[in-house]
Formats: sequence, structure tokens, C-alpha cells
Amino acid sequence: MQLHSLPFYTMDDFNFDGKKVLLRVDINSPIDPKTGKILDDTRIRSHAQTVKELIGLGASVAILAHQGRPGDSDFTTLGAHSILLSRHLGNEVNYLEDLFGPYARSQIASMKPGEVLLLENTRFYSEENIEKVPEAQAKTFLVKILSPLFSLYVNDAFATAHRSHPSLVGFPLVMPSAGGRLLQKEVEILGSLFEPSSKPCIFVLGGGKVPDSVQLMETLLPKGLADKVLLTGLISHLFLIAKGKHVGKATTKIMEGKGLNALLPRAEALLKKYGDMILTPADVAYLKGDARVEAPLDRIPDDSPIYDIGESTISQYSELLRNAKTVIMRGPAGYIEDPRFARGSEGLLQALVSSRAVSLLGGGHLRAISERLGIAEKIGYFSTGGGAFITFLSGEKLPALEVLIASKQKFNSDK
Ligand code: 3PG
Repeated sequence: MQLHSLPFYTMDDFNFDGKKVLLRVDINSPIDPKTGKILDDTRIRSHAQTVKELIGLGASVAILAHQGRPGDSDFTTLGAHSILLSRHLGNEVNYLEDLFGPYARSQIASMKPGEVLLLENTRFYSEENIEKVPEAQAKTFLVKILSPLFSLYVNDAFATAHRSHPSLVGFPLVMPSAGGRLLQKEVEILGSLFEPSSKPCIFVLGGGKVPDSVQLMETLLPKGLADKVLLTGLISHLFLIAKGKHVGKATTKIMEGKGLNALLPRAEALLKKYGDMILTPADVAYLKGDARVEAPLDRIPDDSPIYDIGESTISQYSELLRNAKTVIMRGPAGYIEDPRFARGSEGLLQALVSSRAVSLLGGGHLRAISERLGIAEKIGYFSTGGGAFITFLSGEKLPALEVLIASKQKFNSDK
């Protein structure tokens, strides 16, 4: 997609004065499981700009957002998010512990221009957690109940654009809809910066969401979009196991506990075809007593899980990054919640500073580490998206963008 020729409506295409706007954002944030504190508010800060602009244009805004996934420790209410959003907005955000029940509907009905409501975590509602085509999502209760209460729908949630959930793809089929400012910026920057011809192009994949990363590799490698894929974190353990390498019993147990071994046949198939392009760590770090200890793979003890990549791997990967023309990095290299295991991620980010490569980074953790190291300004563009960022760059269609395009065609005369 090219700058200035977006195929969907943006906020420039509508008059918001006096309008009730339903705004979908992605303020899904890392949360401390013990304290419930939001650890990084980058996404909240970024969306506050869109909300500010909408109320400045005379709209009243009700916000839809999710946090975590059912069953996960970060699956929680949006109370803490509303406090941070109020702070970044400089305006009171009225947080409702309701999504589309009578209380939410009466509050929406009485919204005045300039007012902002934050509705409850969309994923508390079961239908939101099911992927279906937009036509089916347009018929869900969420969409049927909320859509008549608003004049316009704005989707600013680029970071969830790879999901086909009701709050993302249902509304654009039933009402005039626009991409929000953050979504617009992400699409413009990612679309213009990424040149498939900028070779060598290296992907560095780590962090959680291993199935997404495997799927991405299955797309990228056959299309020739990646010259090398450097693996860290859980996905590297998967590929090490697929190669028949020793990762120790503790790591094997974690992989089994997370159900990730089910991905082994797919990892093996990728290795068979693209083995020379897929790099796995040669050494790793684990915990011995209170200390970080490093060892080559064959010396990993059985009683300690792998928490990070080791120095030899950092050097090998860094060398490749320094010689790349494009680097796309997603997810941290280790268990960065413990500072002893942030070393791998820090080392790779430092390598980017000394590289001439154009770098695009996805996911909040890498930004947080770069900010802590004071190098964020020297690294390329940080997308607010993790999975969506990667999906977009691999040339896959993002359902939430596709439906905005369909919405423009459908509501062409309703502006
Ligand atoms: C993200 O953090 O990548 C988005 O909020 C999407 O979250 P999900 O992978 O749980 O759908």
C-alpha cells in the first residue's frame, strides 16, 4: 500500500462534529501478574492521540479494546488502562464495567461531544474470541446491539488487524468506517519502508506467540522474502527440538506444557526445505543458583530451563545483522522480565545501532528495552503491532484492513 493512496477511508474523510464514534483501539499491554500493574503504556499513549483528535473535532467517543486472552494471566479488566488513558489524554475517561449491556447502552445514549467512554474488555464476551468471516461477525450480538448507537466506526487497532474478531471486522460492514490515525500511520510507514528488494533481509523471531511465528515462516520462506530467519526464545527451542538437539528436560517440559510440541511436524517440514536459512542458537543461558550461566547446547543441565541466548549466539547473529540491508525483528530473545536474561535482546538491539540496515521492530518489549538502553531513537521504526506487523510485512492480508476497504466501497455515498 502506498502513501497517500490508502484504499480505505481515514479520519480526513469524515465530519465528526457532534457525531457519536465507536473507536476500536489496541491497548493490550504487558501486565505484571503479581501487581496487575501495566508495565508498558506505549500503545495507550499512541492511541490517546487519535482520541484527542476525535474529541477535538467535536465527536463523543466510546472505545472498544481487549486485554489478554481468556485463560492467560494478563486477561483482565480495563480499569488500569482507563487511568493511563485519562492521563495521556488530559481528559477524564469514563470506564464502564460493561460492554453492551443496559448500563453501557444508557451511558452511550447520554454521551455529549468531547466525552470519552472506555467499554469493558471485548474478550469477556465469548463471540469476540472466535475467528469468523466479516459477514458472520457483522451478525454477532456485539455488532447488532452497538452499531445502531453510533454514526461512525473508527478502527485504530493496527496491532490486532490480523484477527477477524467481531469488534474488528463486524462493524465496517454495517456502518461507515475509517482507519484511525495510528492505524493509518502504521500502514503508511510499513508499506513504504519495506522493500522486498532490500536484500539481504533478515528476520529475527522471538517472544511468545510461537504458532504465529511458525505460520509466518511458512509464508515468508517460500515467497523468498527472508534471506535468513534467526530464531530466539521459545520458537528457537521448538526448532532445536525439531533438529534433534538437546535442550534439557526442564525446557522440554515447558514446551510440552504449552502444547508447542504439536508444532514439531511443521518445524521439521520447514527445516527440511529451508534448513540453511533458519538459524538456531549455538549456546544458551540458564539459571544456576542466583547466577546467569551460559553453555553450549550439549551441556544444558536437565533441571534448568533455557532463559536466553548465549554470547556466541549474540555475536553470530549480530554479525549477520550488521551486514543486512533490512532487519525485521519481533519479540525479545529471552525471559526479559528477569534482567539477568535481557542480555540477548540487548545485544541484538545494540547490533542494530551499529548496522546500516533499515530496521523495523514489532512488539512492545523491544521498544521498552531500547528505551531503557537509551538507543530507541537510533533504531528504525517501532510498530505497535507484533503479529499484525509481521503479517503485514509478509504480504498476507489483514482482515481488519480488508474489511475497511470493503466498507469504503459499500458506504461510498454515505460520507
Ligand atoms: C497483540 O498484542 O499482538 C495484539 O493485541 C493481538 O493480541 P492477540 O495475539 O492476543 O490477538
